[in-house]
Amino acid sequence: SDIEKGTYPHYMLKEMDEQPTVIRKIIQAYEGDNGELTIDTAILQALQAADRLYIIAAGTSYHAGLIGKQYFEKMTGIPVEVHISSEFGYNIPLLSEKPLFIFITQSGETADSRQVLVKIKELGYPTLTVTNVPGSTLSREADYTLLLHAGPEIAVASTKAYVAQVAVLALTAYVTAQASGKGLEFDLKQELAIAANGIQTMIDSKDVLEDIAEDYLKIARNAFFIGRNVDFYVSLEGALKLKEISYIQAEGFAGGELKHGTIALIEEGTPVFALVTQEAVALNIRGNVKEVVARGAYPCIIAMAGLEEAGDRLVIPHVHELLTPLVSVVPMQLISYYAALHRRCDVDKPRNLAKSVTVE
Ligand code: G6P
Repeated sequence: SDIEKGTYPHYMLKEMDEQPTVIRKIIQAYEGDNGELTIDTAILQALQAADRLYIIAAGTSYHAGLIGKQYFEKMTGIPVEVHISSEFGYNIPLLSEKPLFIFITQSGETADSRQVLVKIKELGYPTLTVTNVPGSTLSREADYTLLLHAGPEIAVASTKAYVAQVAVLALTAYVTAQASGKGLEFDLKQELAIAANGIQTMIDSKDVLEDIAEDYLKIARNAFFIGRNVDFYVSLEGALKLKEISYIQAEGFAGGELKHGTIALIEEGTPVFALVTQEAVALNIRGNVKEVVARGAYPCIIAMAGLEEAGDRLVIPHVHELLTPLVSVVPMQLISYYAALHRRCDVDKPRNLAKSVTVE
């Protein structure tokens, strides 16, 4: 069946490998008769009617939500707030007049997110669930659903669902912007196809990524991930992946923030992964790398083609600047995977974690 491991040693590896296919499936699933990307009219109207979007999510889905905020704000001009579901429940922020609540949840079963949905429905506001599981609790209980089309995700550490979430959020923002007559100067369908190829290139670089994992993480006590703008959000996800499956203490940081305290932890040889995919802040993040190197850090710079410099450890294929998370997250996932293997950890079933957490 669809969810057999086949010849793969781990579901996580299989699911990472599926990521280019997932992007292509999403393009197909959201293609209208005229070949243009489209979403359900009722959902489009709900998005256009909103004066503010509230994204609610947990874990990896929260990290996708942070990127979704960028997409909606940059493409549609609708302001967005992103909230951790377990916090939102008892700390509801001031709400706008016409909010739309967007629940991002791979499983559609996360109790922390569901309790917010229940509360929001009581308040009478419209709700949209973005999920991988048709018929899941959050899908059934929300007014609208957008599906991720990633296929069943079995490994506890989420990989293909994250990439699907980022792609579906980009697509939703894009279609909403187009419907509202916002001039967008790129063809998202084409850019997503390019990103799918970029992901494939990363997947085909497993040997290099395994070497990086061995070199930087085989005996590391801790690790830092830094980036600016969307690279910061991918750093959060990269750190989470590493923690989840290798148990190495890891933190994702905004490039400029590390020096305001946490740089105290940098010692001789501390691994620092830096993402450089955003031209506007490329020099700034490289400056942050110099700051940590001066304190003994062992830097691993992962730069997008066009922004690379001599000494960078990995160059990722060039994609549209809004879509870099789709590609830059893949080396983070694979490095974490190989770090876990080198440290003999149970990749698919890490200690203390559950695939979906149905208690608050
Ligand atoms: C659990 C999983 C995480 C996941 C989070 C949110 O903690 O271990 O990988 O990101 O739940 O899950 P959801 O299904 O709501 O996206």
